[in-house]
Amino acid sequence: MKNFINLKDLPSSDLRKILFDAKKRKNRRKKLSTLDIDKDHPLKGKLLIQMFEKASSRTRLSFYLAIKQLGGGTLTLKSNEIHLGKGGESLQDTAKILSTYGDGFMLRTDSDDKINQFSKHLKIPIINGLSPSSHPTQVLSDVFTVEEIKKKPISNLNICWIGDSNNVLNSLIAASVKFSFKLNIGCPKNYKPKSFVLDWAKKNKGKIHIFHDPKKAIKNADVIFSDKVISLNDNVNIKKKTKDFKNFYINKKLLSYAKKNAIFLHCLPRGNEVSDEVFLGKQSHVWQQAYNRVHVQKSILLYCFGKLRQR
Ligand code: CP
Ligand code: NVA
Repeated sequence: MKNFINLKDLPSSDLRKILFDAKKRKNRRKKLSTLDIDKDHPLKGKLLIQMFEKASSRTRLSFYLAIKQLGGGTLTLKSNEIHLGKGGESLQDTAKILSTYGDGFMLRTDSDDKINQFSKHLKIPIINGLSPSSHPTQVLSDVFTVEEIKKKPISNLNICWIGDSNNVLNSLIAASVKFSFKLNIGCPKNYKPKSFVLDWAKKNKGKIHIFHDPKKAIKNADVIFSDKVISLNDNVNIKKKTKDFKNFYINKKLLSYAKKNAIFLHCLPRGNEVSDEVFLGKQSHVWQQAYNRVHVQKSILLYCFGKLRQR
């Protein structure tokens, strides 16, 4: 049994194995319908319990399809509808109950500490489906999408992030170390990633470069990532933050500083950080990116359940 909480804590070789399995499984499903089960039905009879403390469309749907296609099933809980932390039920007891009924637990939460507490008390694997500090399933899937489209290892590409230093960027920084790719970050002066994230990257020989001029950050990029300026957990002055990011708006003009065949990716949902022309344009692959989460999360589930095989 393995947890999937943060990319920085997972061995690169395991992450590579997950991507390898995802590619094989995706190729084998070409003729199957949405709810058809993979031939080897490796998670037959298994239940994934999902719990969301905040909104989600893609993570919810893609995990639903992922476990279904592996032969298992899912149950989705809302934290305000169960006893967790209320009526005297401790997180420890809830963890025991989840372990009694289910085989795996996927949690989207406002608290990194809660994921860590659950990981201590659960007897089943836990997957981080977005926390304030990271979004590992999204970013591992994004590495898959980049390599699928570019048809080369991500380590041979110039990756660029234009936007806020949030949970998705933290995971992208972790991925840049694990997969050894160069990452340029374009963000306003007061919005750099937290020092514990940068210090970890530096200690682990990360190739991270921060620019406060978006044109410099995007120059020669093969892939441009972005995300909302205001995240779900952001407790900020929205007007001020939006204004601070004014120069980091991604439009055709800014994109023209990247390589001609550069691609644009965005985890969604989007805000006002990117023009429709870019988001819906030829260089954008955001829908393929969203769909690939099903494939990669299937292999993440297999990894957590100890069923990942190299074939
Ligand atoms: N990208 C992503 O995690 O989307 P949701 O918030 O809709 O799950
Ligand atoms: N950074 C965003 C990602 C949403 C998928 C948020 O946390 O809201």
